[in-house]
Amino acid sequence: MTNWLPLLDQTHSPVYRKIADALAADIAAGRLPPGMQLPTHRDLAWRLGVTVGTVSRAYSEAERRGLIGGEVGRGTFVLPARRDWTSAVAIGEPDGFVDLSRNYAVTGSEAPLLGETVASLAARADFGLLLHYQPHAGRREDRAAGAEWLRRTTLPQADANHTLVTHGGQHAIAVILAALTRPGDAVAVEQLTYPGFKAAAQQAGLQLVGLPIDDAGLQPEALDAACRARTIRLLYVLPTLHNPTLATMPQERRQEIAAVCRQHDLTVIEDDVYGFLYDPPRQPIVALLPERGYYISSLSKACAPGLRIGYIHAPGGIDRIATAIGASIYMAQPLMAAVASRWMADGTVDRLAAEKRRLAAARQAIVQTVFGSPPSGAKLVSDPASLHCWLILPAGWRAEEFAAAARQRGVGITPAAAFAVGAAAPEAVRFCLGTPETGEQLGRAVRALAATLSENPSPYLSVV
Ligand SMILES: Cc1ncc(COP(=O)(O)O)c(C=O)c1O
Repeated sequence: MTNWLPLLDQTHSPVYRKIADALAADIAAGRLPPGMQLPTHRDLAWRLGVTVGTVSRAYSEAERRGLIGGEVGRGTFVLPARRDWTSAVAIGEPDGFVDLSRNYAVTGSEAPLLGETVASLAARADFGLLLHYQPHAGRREDRAAGAEWLRRTTLPQADANHTLVTHGGQHAIAVILAALTRPGDAVAVEQLTYPGFKAAAQQAGLQLVGLPIDDAGLQPEALDAACRARTIRLLYVLPTLHNPTLATMPQERRQEIAAVCRQHDLTVIEDDVYGFLYDPPRQPIVALLPERGYYISSLSKACAPGLRIGYIHAPGGIDRIATAIGASIYMAQPLMAAVASRWMADGTVDRLAAEKRRLAAARQAIVQTVFGSPPSGAKLVSDPASLHCWLILPAGWRAEEFAAAARQRGVGITPAAAFAVGAAAPEAVRFCLGTPETGEQLGRAVRALAATLSENPSPYLSVV
């Protein structure tokens, strides 16, 4: 048995999570090879000076992430890495498990295109320049290509001087927060919001103020009241195909939100990574607030998340954001930024995005055939342009219990609590459509969800 002792970071996250994170890091770094036996709960608790319950929770979390497994009487062991890197897209696990908890666009023709594009870039005489350091905001041509794409798709005012290249939307969020906030600042968000933002805000030591939403998105009166009640300088908002509720703000609501932001001198971070999917595109809120709006877009949903290319359109100067990019990654990967620029220039991004829209609509149609008439009290929220659905559960079901019951049937989904800020989470779950390899596999998984829904919740599930 190993006498593994994790190195716990200094963040404010709970100790059990720090232990699970340290396990993940040591497994990834090869310090804990597959098959290695981990210390007992009691032994590790003693050596770390924490309770046995904390270690048990950490091990459960690591088990949930597929890192370790236990056998009663034998101990806890490091599991072999998942099949290979493609399993990160969580196509069904060997035992038939289908993970609908991750928000991927359906895989299309991007992989062979990437091969061709890299080969064509490699044939250029200046290819080696992509291995040099570049400005933190990205190469001028990549910023110009990104701005041109933004202009063409969602943000008419976009220009290269205000555009920065990032490693995707998540990185864009992190650098904007690093540049604009200090620990302890309050940031207004929808009371259900993208978990990646919650994580970045936690890292930055921010306080999130969750505000009520309705079918048209964030409620302007609630934003106004919150700004009157306390000092809030920033709003993070998802106005199009909101993750998870799918609400898309009508134009009037966008104008109302913009007016409240101006009145209270709020800076807006508008995360529009799904904006290009909506047809016809909605006017971003930042288009109404060019002097105070940071706009985030990304190619993860239009092309592929592994590209790790996103863009920030910043109001005023870009220096603070560029410095934050420099401090985090120095610069976005130039080869991938060059691939993105090429794809924008030759129309590949538009073709891939159209393909993603078609594939998303086809998957939504599969869900409709299964969930055409959900049981009374349940409500399925879907949109043909969306990569996920939001299922409001009928009375009697708790979201966590429904997710646990679905897991028993081999389907992974996300209960509302993962998205919740402040207010109690509704009894609802998100399930995503892009991860299964085939529509047939998705159909099976969605039928399993429908079957779960038609059951009565087990009275034993709540007993721990
Ligand atoms: C609302 C929202 N913002 C940002 C991201 C992160 O996107 P990226 O892959 O570009 O980092 C996601 C990913 O699902 C998202 O749902």
